Amino acid sequence: MIFGNPQRYWAGNGINKNKAMVEHLEHYGIIKSKKVAEVMETIDRALFVPDGTPPYVDSPMAIGYNATISAPHMHATCLQLLEENLQPGMHALDVGSGTGYLTACFALMVGPQGRAVGVEHIPELLTSSIKNIEKSAAAALLKEGSLSMHVGDGREGWPEFAPYDAIHVGAAAPEIPQPLIDQLKPGGRMVIPVGNIFQDLKVVVKNLDGSVSVRSETSVRYVPLTSRDAQLRG
Ligand SMILES: C[S@@+](CC[C@H](N)C(=O)[O-])C[C@H]1O[C@@H](n2cnc3c(N)ncnc32)[C@H](O)[C@@H]1O
Repeated sequence: MIFGNPQRYWAGNGINKNKAMVEHLEHYGIIKSKKVAEVMETIDRALFVPDGTPPYVDSPMAIGYNATISAPHMHATCLQLLEENLQPGMHALDVGSGTGYLTACFALMVGPQGRAVGVEHIPELLTSSIKNIEKSAAAALLKEGSLSMHVGDGREGWPEFAPYDAIHVGAAAPEIPQPLIDQLKPGGRMVIPVGNIFQDLKVVVKNLDGSVSVRSETSVRYVPLTSRDAQLRG
């Protein structure tokens, strides 16, 4: 299955344009919708990787503090899985926002009437993510306030703007944190990697009666959702 390991088919080593990266992800069926293609074309990944890092190679890249920017195919996969819950006016939470790339994509999708919230527990990464977003097509949304970035322990979610239609977790949790389930709106959807060495990308749906359904989408490898001290100790 192509989702599990698209590097087998395409590593993107020769790609030096954001648009070409998006076209390849479309070609291999990872980007399936016009909306996701549009948002990934509009938010240039090069603005979110550290200087000297090849931005369009389909691999996670180190961003310091034992963290990574996720690979383009994982960003695309998560945007596809959450697309229906990222309609204009909706609320989206990005836990472990790292570089701010996905939070910026969420902000464009939910628009100025919606809410996109990033939570990152390393203050230095949060500061650089704000600088990245300020250079991007989501800068105006950050300025106006429909996009906001916060330092905090993402395992607690961000209650201020709950309930959320969409929650993305960018680091692997040993189990799904209860506060994130609590902050999901009925009809809402969460995408979260769960596990330690072996991890599954789980799709969690809160049904309209408040019950919760969970399914596994694919196997993944993410850095852990943990405490700041544990992460910095490596
Ligand atoms: C794979 S990385 C970044 C993912 C982000 N989507 C990106 O592509 O830039 C995961 C992030 O989760 C953060 N993180 C880990 N545990 C966390 C926690 N308890 N609360 C908030 N952030 C956390 C890490 O510092 C790291 O920035």
